[in-house]
Amino acid sequence: MKVLVIGSGGREHALVWKISQSPMVDKIYCAPGNAGIAQLAECVAIKAEDLDGLLDFALQNEIGLTVVGPEVPLTMGVVDKFQEKGLKIFGPSGRAAEIEGSKTFAKDLMAKYGIPTAKYGAFIDAEEAKAFLAEVGLPCVVKADGLAAGKGVLICETKEEAETAVDDILVDNKFGNAGSRVVVEEFLTGQEVSMLAFSDGKTIVPMVSSQDHKRIWDGDKGLNTGGMGAYSPAPVYTPDVHEIVVPQVLEATIKAMEQEGRPFAGILYAGLMLTADGPKVLEFNARFGDPETQAVLPRLKSDLVEIFLAIIDGRLNEMNIEWYEEAAVCVVMASGGYPETSDKGRVITGMKEAEETGTIVFHAGTKEIDGNIVTNGGRVLAISALGKDIAEAIANAYKGVEKVKFENMQYRTDIGKKAFL
Ligand code: AMP
Ligand code: GLY
Repeated sequence: MKVLVIGSGGREHALVWKISQSPMVDKIYCAPGNAGIAQLAECVAIKAEDLDGLLDFALQNEIGLTVVGPEVPLTMGVVDKFQEKGLKIFGPSGRAAEIEGSKTFAKDLMAKYGIPTAKYGAFIDAEEAKAFLAEVGLPCVVKADGLAAGKGVLICETKEEAETAVDDILVDNKFGNAGSRVVVEEFLTGQEVSMLAFSDGKTIVPMVSSQDHKRIWDGDKGLNTGGMGAYSPAPVYTPDVHEIVVPQVLEATIKAMEQEGRPFAGILYAGLMLTADGPKVLEFNARFGDPETQAVLPRLKSDLVEIFLAIIDGRLNEMNIEWYEEAAVCVVMASGGYPETSDKGRVITGMKEAEETGTIVFHAGTKEIDGNIVTNGGRVLAISALGKDIAEAIANAYKGVEKVKFENMQYRTDIGKKAFL
């Protein structure tokens, strides 16, 4: 079978890597891909948002399965478009992807169906939003409603900061269309965990737990990023927590989406805060996480393509999905200035040596120029390793990281340490 993967980051490299291990697959294409993906797949220069271009390509090349990595094409309805032409595609419909595309939709859904989440209000009027601030207290969280590549969440310590955040989003349109509404939320404290689950709209199969590291610097300091590293499993996500999360969050959400006439087939990603009052949902994503995928997929024993096809056919209940016992850690190496600016074109060395230590070098922002692999801005590489436990996986991952060099590189030296708090 020919498979097309949409996207160009570390997550997509991990997807292509895992898909390439399936005996069902003859050839993989990736649109647009990156220099690492090009070692396993044929990269085609079609942007992830160019839905017509992607559809034409899939029809012309008899693609048997398309897998969507990022959220933007999902919310634009790429799945609906492919399905109308009878093509098999993995991911939720545009209406189901709204669980990620609109925070107001997600919060209203949780409120309606009693899914645990932070207290909130959703507003289109700045004065009403400001009046509501008193109800959630300080600190509070002000969020742009729509997709803002992780930048639309503002944690505010003072009333002035919160009012400015509301004005930035609603009045000054700093987030464009994503900010036509705001969600004002109670601030939650606790450890964050990512729980991803396979769903065909009826059955849910949770993956192994993982934890991201959102801030740029060690010790969770500095600006929020797309994610600087991940580890799996997250020890704070105990069997007791799992017993709450599966029925109250994952199953409840899939049932709610079905009742709303938006059956969710794809990856449901619940970003959870483990608070003193129990687990609460911070956000839902309608796709695999980046970099969680680079820590979770190396632990998956089963054939991912078989799982995707079972989900598309609505027979996830027949699948027995197996995982390796080992832990996994993924360390992201980013370009200088990230996340504020994007340094590009730096030659990367040592990737082969990193692989020789046993790590998997997933590419994110890389490009091939004149036979050299160079940085292409943002997150550049995600270096993953397995180990018998998290401590060993950390040590293994950093053995690979130490081999890689490019000018102005930045990476955290404390990925996975939270597992020992
Ligand atoms: P989101 O995109 O909604 O997950 O928010 C991005 C990050 O902001 C999360 O990973 C949390 O670290 C933080 N965050 C979001 N909502 C809250 C909240 N209600 N309380 C505390 N932190 C939050
Ligand atoms: N790692 C966070 C995300 O994928 O949204």
